[in-house]
Amino acid sequence: MAEKIGVLISEDEVDKKITEMAELINKEYEGKVVHLIGVLRGSVFFMCELAKKLTVPVTLDFMSVSSYGNGTSSSGVVKLIKDLDDSIEGKNVILVEDIMDSGRTLSYLVNILKERKPESFKIITLLDKPERRVVDIEPDMTCFVVPDRFVVGYGLDCAQKYRNLPYIGIIEE
Ligand code: IMP
Ligand code: MG
Repeated sequence: MAEKIGVLISEDEVDKKITEMAELINKEYEGKVVHLIGVLRGSVFFMCELAKKLTVPVTLDFMSVSSYGNGTSSSGVVKLIKDLDDSIEGKNVILVEDIMDSGRTLSYLVNILKERKPESFKIITLLDKPERRVVDIEPDMTCFVVPDRFVVGYGLDCAQKYRNLPYIGIIEE
């Protein structure tokens, strides 16, 4: 059966919220360089939109971890697939995530990255599902809190599909 995707958060709403977040970051980091770290692959769409709206100088890097298999449930195991290309020592790092679910991925990354002596370290996430948290970790900035449903679009996938949807959707069957 073909899957139908319902709109949970429209493209306009996402765009407006990212603009607001960028304005906050521009104020908070005035006079500094912001080093954005994207978690591949889901955060790429959000990170690009956010970066385009920043007026402070920006540098970028990416890392890749695996925490999920191909479906919609967590394996509970986090593995580092690709490390950063550049050192983060002395940098004002903002880690950019697509969604915080159990919190396992982020707590694993935060533990690794904070040891590398960044000047400052914050987490921004496009979506947060706080009901699902099993690890004690909270993002510093959240665009949208979403219910405990599997969401796709704006970088988020289901078995690698739907990342390119320009809105946040829910698979309706
Ligand atoms: P966590 O380690 O459980 O917090 O999972 C974080 C990762 O799981 C995210 O970066 C996503 O890649 C994936 N994930 C969690 N919930 C969803 C969802 O609703 N849709 C798509 N991917 C999700
Ligand atoms: Mg992800």
